Parts: sequence; C-alpha cells; structure tokens
Amino acid sequence: MICLGIESTAHTLGIGIVDDKGNVLANCKKSFFPDIGIHPREAAVHHTKHAVELVACALESAKISAEDVDLISFSLGPGLSPSLKVGAVVARTLAIGLNKPILGVNHCVAHIEIGKMKTAVKDPIVVYASGGNTQIIGFSGGKYRVFGETLDIGIGNMIDKFARKVGLGNPGGPIIEKIAKKGRYIDMPYSIKGMDMSFSGLLTFAVNSFLVKKEKIEDVCYSLQHNAYSMMVEVTERALSHTGKTEVLLTGGVAASRMLQGMLEVMCSERGAKFNVVPVEVAGDNGAMIAWQGLIEYRAGRRQDISETEPDPKWRTDEVEIGY
Ligand code: ATP
Ligand code: FE2
Repeated sequence: MICLGIESTAHTLGIGIVDDKGNVLANCKKSFFPDIGIHPREAAVHHTKHAVELVACALESAKISAEDVDLISFSLGPGLSPSLKVGAVVARTLAIGLNKPILGVNHCVAHIEIGKMKTAVKDPIVVYASGGNTQIIGFSGGKYRVFGETLDIGIGNMIDKFARKVGLGNPGGPIIEKIAKKGRYIDMPYSIKGMDMSFSGLLTFAVNSFLVKKEKIEDVCYSLQHNAYSMMVEVTERALSHTGKTEVLLTGGVAASRMLQGMLEVMCSERGAKFNVVPVEVAGDNGAMIAWQGLIEYRAGRRQDISETEPDPKWRTDEVEIGY
C-alpha cells in the first residue's frame, strides 16, 4: 500500500510518499520564510502556488504514477487555518480525481509516529519540540497525554523571533546554534510552572541583553538555548520519573539541535533511560510523516468521508483517539 501525504500546517508545504513498510519514497517540500513572521494568508498563497509542482516532484522522485497511490492523507490540524485549507483542498482534489480514500490526520501525532517508526522506540516520553509546539508527551489509556507544555510560545518560534529581532536572519535555530558554540553562560530567566514551561520572558530578556545591555551575541545565544533546553530537560526527567517509562524520543523541527540532543542524552544516561532522536530529514514539517500517519490509521481501520475533512486549527495532541 502506498500513501501520499500532504503537510501544510504552517510555513511548509510538503508532499511525501511512503509505503506500508515505512520506506520514504519521496519527500518534497517548499518553505515560506518571510522577514517578519508568517502572515497566514501569505503562507496560504505560497502553498497554493507550489502545490502542483510538489505533487509532481513527489511522484517523480518515487518513480510512480498517480494511479499507484492507494491513499491520500493530509494534516487536518493543528495549524494556521488558511494554510490548512490549502492542504485540505489539494487532498480532496487528488482523492476525488483519483477515486482514492482520504484521511485527515493530526500533525503533532504524525511528528511522534514518524519518530517511533524511524527509531524503533516502543513507549517513550516524547519531547515534541518544533516552531509552534513544545510538549512533553507520554502514551497512556489510548491517548498521547501532554504532561507538560509551553504556556506561551513554542521553543522554535521563540528562537526564530530572537534571531529576527537581533538581525540574525530566518530560520534562527541553526544560525543561533552555530554562534552559541563560542558562548559562555550569563544569568537568564528560567521559568517552569508545575510541569509547564514559559519562554516569552526569556525571549524578552535575551533581546534586551543584546540590544540594551550590549552583551556579546555568542553569550546571549548560548544562554538563551541553555535555559530554554534546561527547562525542557527538567520536565522530561520528571515525566520519566512519574511514569516509570525508560525511553525518550526527541521529535519536531528543533530535534535538529545538537545542544538539545546532547543535554537530553546526558540526562537519559544518568538515569539509565534510552535516548532516541528522529532523523533530521523527517524532523521538521514534511509530507512523509503525514503519509505514514495516514497509513497506520488506515491500516487500523479508520475511514473518513470527504464531508468530514474540514480542518481543525486547534486539534490538540491529547484529543486524538489512538486506535492502533
Ligand atoms: P509545528 O507546526 O509542529 O509546531 P513548525 O511548523 O514550526 O512546527 P518544524 O519544521 O517542525 O515546524 O520546526 C521548525 C523549527 O525548527 C524552526 O523554529 C527552526 O528554527 C527550528 N530548528 C531547525 N533547526 C534547528 C536547530 N539546529 N536548532 C534549533 N532549532 C532548529
Ligand atoms: Fe511541525
């Protein structure tokens, strides 16, 4: 069975093709990186413009024709409404035109499942770290429960915002990580409330440290990352301790961070847990993870009528019934 998956929750339009053994046959994508944050309507225009070429790219890379596709899946939510609508329209067009089944899936759960499939981890505490989301998750009683999450902005958006405000370009994650290598620690806010994290105070403090207090950029980058990632590691360790789980899976676009990987790895090795990280080619938003999510849900018997494919921009990780 072959599934074509469409990702369009935010600034990336991705078309991926995956078979039922989990082989990624194609993973084409194009991202929209404006200088000043994402305007949802502009992102939707970007996705509309590139949809046809990306579907063609995916079919060509997979060396299959459209008729070989058995299932169309797409991100039903959460995300920016105008972007989600483009993905839904592309999915419906393909499903109706090719007379194939359609399944709208949850974007956050797809980040988890592609990580589980690629690393063969079984029952982990998941650190889902991306642009818009920061959640520490564990499976229990048929759902992925969120043990802790950001109370304001996602970790990646916080880092990207910092980079834009201090003039380092976009996306900030990889740029800041490189600069931070030469940095030393300066004291910054560290904000955990129960099991939840807050990043906006740290962002303001870091911007002011550079623009007002004239601290060195490498020290600011290092300390910003240090505190943000330490908060995430602390919550993850507590989730491991409370649940008794013995594996950690890092997934989402920020999983590409070597510093975050390293810090989680140290924590895991100190408590005898196994650390796993999603491969970088499927870490950020991509169509292959949506295709894989569609496949496992279809295989488990989930079906959806076209009339049920209206996107849900606020569909949370812990609202999804896991039926496989
Ligand atoms: P979601 O919709 O799941 O919240 P998203 O649409 O923002 O996520 P992803 O592609 O999952 O997108 O993640 C993108 C984020 O990953 C960006 O904020 C980017 O800066 C960050 N990122 C990429 N590489 C690194 C890195 N090496 N270090 C830190 N952050 C990184
Ligand atoms: Fe994402």
